[in-house]
Amino acid sequence: MTERSEREEERFVSPVADGEEKAIEAALRPKQLDEFIGQARVREQLSLVLHSALRRGRPPDHVLMSGPPGLGKTTLAMIIAAELGMPLRISSGPAIERAGDLAAVLSTLSEGEVLFLDEIHRMARPAEEMLYVAMEDFRVDVIVGKGPGATAIPLDLAPFTLVGATTRAGLLPAPLRDRFGFVAHMDFYEPADLQQIIDRSARLLDVRMDDAGAAEIARRSRGTPRIANRLLRRVRDFAEVRADGVITEQVARDALSLYEVDAEGLDRLDRSVLDSLLRKFGGGPVGLSTLAVAVGEEPETVEVVAEPFLVRKGLIARTPRGRIATSSAWRHLGITPPPTVEGTLFEVTEE
Ligand SMILES: Nc1ncnc2c1ncn2[C@@H]1O[C@H](COP(=O)(O)OP(=O)(O)O)[C@@H](O)[C@H]1O
Ligand SMILES: [Mg+2]
Repeated sequence: MTERSEREEERFVSPVADGEEKAIEAALRPKQLDEFIGQARVREQLSLVLHSALRRGRPPDHVLMSGPPGLGKTTLAMIIAAELGMPLRISSGPAIERAGDLAAVLSTLSEGEVLFLDEIHRMARPAEEMLYVAMEDFRVDVIVGKGPGATAIPLDLAPFTLVGATTRAGLLPAPLRDRFGFVAHMDFYEPADLQQIIDRSARLLDVRMDDAGAAEIARRSRGTPRIANRLLRRVRDFAEVRADGVITEQVARDALSLYEVDAEGLDRLDRSVLDSLLRKFGGGPVGLSTLAVAVGEEPETVEVVAEPFLVRKGLIARTPRGRIATSSAWRHLGITPPPTVEGTLFEVTEE
């Protein structure tokens, strides 16, 4: 996988799953649309797309899902195939290095099959162009030979449905984005939805828990189901060893403070991003890569993983001149802003 995942896996509240976790996740994944909790608008729109396709007996429009990691994009791709009663083929942008890699996948799809391309923004450029034609006309042009003698042999494809997922919709070229008939924007979950997800997972994992315990885990899960499920498992471990196996509010609090996840769901890395921004750059503005170096992280980790949540919490803001801390950030870390900054502080309310 990517460079960032190596570092990510060490992170307790990482929204990215590591190898072992993937197996556990598979067991917790909702299999049908009506088991999928939250994201009501996406669910309803998708349900219409799928049902009308089923009524017409034709593959539905191609679907693009965008949003931060851990919000259910892969889960929805699997649900789409299941609801259509079609097989699912899984590949990803980074796995497609050449147009030929994509041709090999496309030409072996059966009629109506669902092709899931994860991290679609990371596909090689020549493959991207091949994909435009494939999505629109169900055809690929296979280039045979090299140089001036090369010829393109058109190859018809079985009609298929592409489901693309991206954490960075902004990086997708417009011609590709425009070829998706349906774009689902996934957003962070409300605590009430996360609590339902935690309840469901606790039932599947045979964990005893009261409502206040579930609510406490939900509050600290950064709006992300993957993190909610992970915190649940760690709190369960704690409850088994230190308590009588039942997750209460107090048990959840004690466990999560042991794992350094604070009341807002910030972990050590988030706090270190904030801390650098405040102490080293006086609250900003500072450019993303400079900030990332100060924290010892890849810029992409800071941008994709830490930032969206910190922005949503109203702790930092992105401006054309760089990242700036809001007054809540100083308060959250309990640091007094220097007098020079005070007058220019941004007050951003939580969205
Ligand atoms: N709406 C949801 N309801 C229940 N569980 C969910 C939901 N969304 C995600 N999950 C759980 O969170 C985990 C991560 O979801 P996943 O689809 O892999 O996220 P993504 O592909 O966006 O990174 C999965 O194990 C899944 O069980
Ligand atoms: Mg995924």
